[in-house]
Amino acid sequence: MLVSRLGAVFRRANAQNITSQLKGIPRASVGSDFFSTSRLASSGSSGGYLFSRSCSIYGFGNLRKSLLGPSPRKMSNSATAISSINSEATCSGLKLLVTKGPLAQKQVGVWLFGCAAWVFSLVILGGVTRLTRSGLSMTDWKFTGTLPPFSEDEWLLEFRKYQQSPEYKRVNKGMTLQDFKFIYWMEYAHRMWGRALGVVFAVPFAYFLMKRYITYQLGARLSALFGLGAAQGLIGWWMVKSGLKEPESEYTQPRVSPYRLATHLTSAFVIYCGTLWTALSVVMPEPPTESLNWVNGASRIRKLALPISVLVGFTAVSGAFVAGNDAGHAYNTFPKMGDSWIPDDVFSMTPLYRNFFENTSTVQLNHRILATTTLISVASFWWAARKIDIHPAIRSLIGSTMGMASLQVILGISTLLSYVPVPLASGHQAGALSLMTIMIVLMHTLRKPSPAILKSLSSLPKSKG
Ligand code: HEM
Repeated sequence: MLVSRLGAVFRRANAQNITSQLKGIPRASVGSDFFSTSRLASSGSSGGYLFSRSCSIYGFGNLRKSLLGPSPRKMSNSATAISSINSEATCSGLKLLVTKGPLAQKQVGVWLFGCAAWVFSLVILGGVTRLTRSGLSMTDWKFTGTLPPFSEDEWLLEFRKYQQSPEYKRVNKGMTLQDFKFIYWMEYAHRMWGRALGVVFAVPFAYFLMKRYITYQLGARLSALFGLGAAQGLIGWWMVKSGLKEPESEYTQPRVSPYRLATHLTSAFVIYCGTLWTALSVVMPEPPTESLNWVNGASRIRKLALPISVLVGFTAVSGAFVAGNDAGHAYNTFPKMGDSWIPDDVFSMTPLYRNFFENTSTVQLNHRILATTTLISVASFWWAARKIDIHPAIRSLIGSTMGMASLQVILGISTLLSYVPVPLASGHQAGALSLMTIMIVLMHTLRKPSPAILKSLSSLPKSKG
C-alpha cells in the first residue's frame, strides 16, 4: 500500500512539474517517447569525471515508467520538453550523481532502491529473530560467515555449544534439538541475508565504477554506506556477545545490552535512510517545482518538517530501548501505566541517566511521551500545511505522514496491550521504517532547487501560482 501510495505521489509530482513546464513551449518541440533528454553538457567534462551529463532531471519518472509501464499522463513527452527549457548552461547547474545518461541513471537507481528494500527486509528479519528469542543461538561469529551444520553430528556440536550459554541454562533448559534448529536457522538467515546484501551492494557498485557511471560525490557516499554496512556486521556480533555473558544477578534473564541493541538498530536505520536518500537523489536530482510560489511554500514546509523528522528519529531510537529492555512486557495498559500515569520507580536507578536507557518504566514512559509528541506534531504540521501553497506531491506526502504516524501509534498501543506478539511487534517495527521512508521522501522532495532551475522558473510567465 505504501509503495503504491508513494508511486502515486511521484507520478503526480512528475506530471505536475511537467505539465506546467510544458506551458509556453511549442507543442512541436515535444518529443514522443523518450523520457529524459539527451542533451549533453560539455561543461560536465571539465572535472574529468562527467564527460557527459544528461539533463534527465525527472529520473524517477523514468524509473517509474520502467517499473509500472507507460503513464497515461505522457510524462515522457514532457521531460523532453523540459530539455528545451533548460539550456546547456542550466543543465550543467543540476546536481546529477550519475553520468552517461538516463539508462545509467535508471540502472543505478533501481539497484539502490533494491538495496534500500533489502535493508528494510533485513531490519524486519532481525526484529523477528529477536522476538522469537533466536538471536543468541549461534555462539561464534566469522566476518565471512560459515556453512550451516549439515550432518546430525554437526548439529549436535552446535547444540552443545549453545547448551553452555546462559540463555540455554536459564531460559531454554530442556529445549529439544528440533527447537534449537529453528532458532539457529533464524539467526543464520539474518546473518546470511546481511552478508548477501554486502555482495548485492558491492558487485554492482564495482561494475558501475568500472563503467564510469558514478560521480565522485556519489562514489564517496556509496563507499561510506558500504563502510557502515560492514561495521553493522561487527556491531551485530558485539551486541550478541553481550548476551552470551553470565548476567550479574541470578534473577535476571540473559539478554543483549540495550545500548548495543539500540546501536545496532539505529545504525540500521541510518543505513536504510542513507541508501534511500541516495537512491532518490540519483533518480530525482531536482525536487518537483512548478512556480516560485511553490518553491517558497516548500521552503516554509521544510522548516516545519525538519524538526518533525528529528522527532521521528528520536522516537524510533527510544523504541529501540523499549525493545532492548523488553519493556513492552511491562505496563500493558494505555494510556495509564498500570494504575498511575507515571510509575513511582522512574528515577530509581543511579546515576540518573541510566533510568532513561535501562529502567523499564522510564524507557517505556519516554517512548510513550515521544510517540504522543510525534503524533501531535505531525497532526499540527498537517493542519498548518493546509494553508500553505505547495506542490500537490508535497501535500500528498504530508497526508501520508499523518496517516502513517496514526497507524504507527495504533500499532504500538496494540503491541503493548497484547503483550508483544511477534506479528504485531514486527508490524510496529515495519511501521517505524515506513514512517521514516515517508519522512525521507518528504524531506528529499522539499530540497531547494538548484539555481539553474530557479532561474528557468523566474523566466516562466507569471500566470501560474
Ligand atoms: C510515532 C510513533 C512511534 C514510533 C516511531 C515507534 C517506533 C518504535 C521502534 C523503532 C521500536 C523498536 C522496534 C523493534 O526493534 O522491535 C518500537 C518498539 C516498541 N514500541 Fe513503538 N513507536 C511509536 C509509538 C508507540 C506507541 C504509542 C506505543 C505504545 C504505547 C509503542 C510501544 C512500543 C513497544 C511496546 C515496543 C517494543 C516492541 C518489541 O519489544 O518489539 N510505540 N517502537
